[in-house]
Amino acid sequence: MQRRLLRKLDLEMLLSQIEPHPSPRPSLEQYTIPVSLAATMLYVAAYTNNDIVGKTVLDLGCGTGRLALGAAFLGARQVVGVDIDKVAIETAFENSMKTKLKDKVQWIAADVNVIHRSFDTVLQNPPFGVQKSRADRKFLKKALEVGKSVYSLHKDPRRDKQLIKQLKASRINTTSVSPTPFIERFIEEHNGKIKAVHATLMSIPHIFSFHTKPKHEFLVNLYIIEANLTQDAKRFIEGVEK
Ligand SMILES: C[S@@+](CC[C@H](N)C(=O)[O-])C[C@H]1O[C@@H](n2cnc3c(N)ncnc32)[C@H](O)[C@@H]1O
Repeated sequence: MQRRLLRKLDLEMLLSQIEPHPSPRPSLEQYTIPVSLAATMLYVAAYTNNDIVGKTVLDLGCGTGRLALGAAFLGARQVVGVDIDKVAIETAFENSMKTKLKDKVQWIAADVNVIHRSFDTVLQNPPFGVQKSRADRKFLKKALEVGKSVYSLHKDPRRDKQLIKQLKASRINTTSVSPTPFIERFIEEHNGKIKAVHATLMSIPHIFSFHTKPKHEFLVNLYIIEANLTQDAKRFIEGVEK
């Protein structure tokens, strides 16, 4: 296990400085990952699995950069953030200046499919497919193609009331669950191996006109996946690390 170099509180303070999207579009599901969830995801990747410190990291659908900048803050060797939306990328760049991490992250304004080189780790909070069915699959496919370890958030459609109650009552904000069958099948079909699935509650504020409550709370699952990269992809990653 990686030695804890940074306190989670310091990571949360950094993440809370990262501004959300100024004008989010429903069609791209542009809500920003909550600070506590981003910190948990980054902390598990960095200190439980040793997948951040000194590693090359890709944030697919980076939005305004919380996951990418968090990875840079924790000591990733190289970080790339890609998002199809120019305003998101401009805000991510401003966030990188504000947090003094400008030289640590490369931002790309483009579709996820422009990425072809490989990375040690992919972090992603993709569109969940609420607006466009299965929008997360394109992200998952790309992540499994270019990343050795993949951390991917997906909405849990099971609406397990008991689990929601348990998570609300507990001070530990995640619990292990089984994968949903269709995500499990998709990952297997793309040669990935699920190492763990952690359920947690995600709460997003009212940002779109169709939201009827002040905040929207739902179950999401963090999938931790080992991908089966080609020999060429593995050699590329090793080359970057030398
Ligand atoms: C749920 S938001 C997450 C943003 C950010 N990762 C975060 O967690 O705060 C999903 C992001 O994916 C981006 N996106 C949607 N479709 C995309 C595509 N085809 N290629 C690249 N980015 C895309 C959106 O612009 C949006 O910023």
